[in-house]
This record gives sequence, structure tokens and C-alpha cells, in this order.
Amino acid sequence: MISWGHITSGPSILSGFRSPHEPCIGLPLPPPQPLLSLASPSPFPLNPLVPEHTKVMGKEWADARRAANVARLAATLATALAGRTSITFELGCGHGHWLAAYGAAHPDEFCVGIDLITHRVERSVRKQTLGKLDNVIFLKAEAMEFLEALPAAIVLRKIFILYPDPWPKKKHHKHRFINAESLDLLAKRAAAGTRLHFRTDDADYFSWTNEFLAAHARWQVAPGIEWPFEQKTFFEERMKDKRDVIADLTD
Ligand SMILES: C[S@@+](CC[C@H](N)C(=O)[O-])C[C@H]1O[C@@H](n2cnc3c(N)ncnc32)[C@H](O)[C@@H]1O
Repeated sequence: MISWGHITSGPSILSGFRSPHEPCIGLPLPPPQPLLSLASPSPFPLNPLVPEHTKVMGKEWADARRAANVARLAATLATALAGRTSITFELGCGHGHWLAAYGAAHPDEFCVGIDLITHRVERSVRKQTLGKLDNVIFLKAEAMEFLEALPAAIVLRKIFILYPDPWPKKKHHKHRFINAESLDLLAKRAAAGTRLHFRTDDADYFSWTNEFLAAHARWQVAPGIEWPFEQKTFFEERMKDKRDVIADLTD
């Protein structure tokens, strides 16, 4: 999945093009080339527009990669969570500021933070190591894959989602993490009484989340509940607004 601030790269039909702004290392620039010549055959069909990696590798490859990720995560989690029955879960932990502080203040809870971006997870792990937090782990993982890989014995007791990518354009709303399917999956891996905490600066994502929760059979928005633990996250430092939604899972 593409994420905010996360740039994917891959083979490109434009890869032969060199910008005039690119540094030239001791060689004269070749004469300017057209971006795409309709006369020259393209290695990829131009339509329909699909991500480059899908064109090259195909759905079969993507499915196999997903299955391998889930298997790898399942093995890691089976070891890391052996003997445990519940966790406090942060989805999209970024640089780990929030969960490292939360874990330090709640030694009786076992906390798992995940993020897609390697260098953010590395920074999180550094906080865990420096803080000698033996009740906190950070993993590089995609949320839906993580939920699939979570051992059956583990219940999500508390869930935190802070400043998720807001995908503000309407055509990108489908990328927002909160939707009927993800709320179902979270509910499946949680138990009655599990509390979901969602914080955003984005007014539209705030309404969106309230609406999806209100429409869900088991999540019940709990208005007036105070945010349980304050620690500024990397993104919170940069945002003007703070909008909280808290919901409890019913039977
Ligand atoms: C806007 S950042 C917020 C990070 C952090 N919570 C903060 O407040 O500083 C959203 C984070 O969610 C991560 N993310 C987005 N989609 C994800 C997914 N499906 N699974 C795991 N992490 C995801 C991104 O990599 C990114 O680091």
C-alpha cells in the first residue's frame, strides 16, 4: 500500500529520461529525448494505468509476497508473544514516540507498534532499546497482514491509531485505513470491552471515522471519554488540530 510520505520506486517507462537539472558527472548531456515516443514501442502497455510493480510482477507475485509476509510475521509473533493473551496495539507508530512513552508508563501492558516504513521502525526500536523497555516491541508490518498473522490466542485489548494518513482527496479516500473491512478485522481480533482510540487533525477523516464506527454493528462510539495518555507524536508536533474518537467493542 502507498502511504503518506512514502515514495515507492520501480522500473519506469521514463527511466531513460534525464532531467536537465540532474548533475552530470564529467559527461556531456545527451541530446534531449522526448519523454515518450509513440513511434518507439513501449515495454509496457500504456493503458490501463496500473502501478508499475503490478505490470511487471503481476497479481500472482503480489499474492505470494503477501503470503510470505504473513508467514514471516506469524513466526515472529509466535515467539515474541509466547505465553501472552493480550496486547496494546499501535497501528502506524511512526517514529515510536508515543508507544515508547506509553509502554514506559504502563509496565503491566505488553505493547506492539507497527509501521510500514523501515527507517521509522528503526527509530522506534532505538527508543525501545534506549528505554530498556521489555514490554514494548516495534515491527515493520502492514496492518492487515499483521492482523492476519496475529496468533489466535492474542486479543487486542487497546488499539491506538494516531494521525493516520488522511488521504484528503476524494479519489484517495479508498486508501484510508478506517473502513468497514478494517473495523471488522479489528473487531475479530479484539474482545468485548476493547477500546479503540483514533486521533487525527483532519476534520473530514474525523467525520468519516465517526460515521464508519456508528454504522458498525459492534463498535460503539464513546463520547466524552478523555484521551488516556498524552505524548506528542512526530506528526502531532507538526499539526494544528487534534480530534479524538474513542469507541468500545460491544458483545
Ligand atoms: C501520518 S503517519 C503518523 C505516524 C505517527 N502515528 C505519528 O503520529 O507521528 C502515518 C503512519 O502510518 C503508517 N501506515 C500507513 N498505512 C499503514 C498500514 N497499512 N500498516 C502499517 N502502517 C501504516 C505510515 O507508514 C506512517 O508512518
